[in-house]
Amino acid sequence: MFARAQSAATASVMELKALVLAGGKGTRLRPITHTSAKQLIPIANKPILFYGLEAIARAGIKQVGVIVGDTRAEIESAVGDGSRFGFKATYIPQEAPLGLAHAVKISKKFVGAHPFLMFLGDNLLKESLTPLVKDFSAKKPNAQILVARVPNPRQFGVVEMDGDRVVRLVEKPEEPKSDLALVGVYMFDSSIFEAIASIRPSARGELEITDAIQRLVDKKRRVTVKHIDGWWKDTGKLEDLLEVNRLILDTLSASVDPTASVDEKSKIEGRVVVQEGAHVVHSTIRGPAIIGKNAKIVRSFVGPYTSIYFNTSVEDSEVEHSILLEEARLHNIRRIQDSLIGQRVEVVQSHSMPAAYRIMVGDSSRVEVP
Ligand code: TTP
Repeated sequence: MFARAQSAATASVMELKALVLAGGKGTRLRPITHTSAKQLIPIANKPILFYGLEAIARAGIKQVGVIVGDTRAEIESAVGDGSRFGFKATYIPQEAPLGLAHAVKISKKFVGAHPFLMFLGDNLLKESLTPLVKDFSAKKPNAQILVARVPNPRQFGVVEMDGDRVVRLVEKPEEPKSDLALVGVYMFDSSIFEAIASIRPSARGELEITDAIQRLVDKKRRVTVKHIDGWWKDTGKLEDLLEVNRLILDTLSASVDPTASVDEKSKIEGRVVVQEGAHVVHSTIRGPAIIGKNAKIVRSFVGPYTSIYFNTSVEDSEVEHSILLEEARLHNIRRIQDSLIGQRVEVVQSHSMPAAYRIMVGDSSRVEVP
């Protein structure tokens, strides 16, 4: 009896938890992030964050701490208690985005003595987390980091290696000595808390996770490195969002929900998903594309790599390689391309004189006209 209780306790100590970072400022995605969480921007009509949460659930993790900032209410209402994913979600408020290592620091109580996986809530990767988690749990290093080769290492945390040994980690180096970027998935045991306790904020005022991992390396702790094979994207900017949207749309299989309608004058070409209650009237949809719940597409062309979200309306318009968010409306516009159109935004043709652009756009918006 005693032996059984003891082994159950040991098992629970070793059970891996996860920490998902869904706070931050999202300055590079303004104005969208003035009003909403960037982690909830839909990619192929599913919030970015959900891809990571589903991968975490598939890896068998049952307890997930979610770091939240100003957009706490929105994140909490989307993720709920975690049961829809198959884990228990615990919200950890961060008073300000003081760095990735700061987010870990304030999660000490939630993590306890458990090893944990840390996932940046705006990152997307093709690779399954399951083999990475298994490998970490079997080999038990103090930290396991993931790296990918990138063409523009200046924008990332960069890892310098000597063979398979980590020598140095530098956050956004001016002169990168390697093209290996740190992917936003890390695994740690509790030695990371000691390392964080010994670092100071960087020049940009953040507690950097790269500095904390460097501390582990300097203290001769075991830091192992995995190279990822599939694609990985940090969705900090518009181009990145459009790129992951392309990558995910490419993986969908065509389907039309039975509650959706596509009239006989419409053409659906290639890989197109039409979701519940959507209406496609006298239009051409050329995939890969997704038409969201209750969207109305009338006398329009929706071109490849477009995601049209819920309750949107596209009339007498053409749109391609773009993302439309909830309740956005295009009317008589030819054509929209490479764009992200925010919630409830209207882009419409006007016949009033004089013929001119009349715009009301939020702070930090960008409008390009021909
Ligand atoms: P970043 O993209 O590095 O930062 P950010 O979200 O503030 O964006 P920007 O650089 O455009 O201003 O953050 C990566 C992820 O980690 C993202 O999901 C936000 C989250 N995060 C926190 O939860 N707390 C923090 O202190 C920081 C810096 C980021």
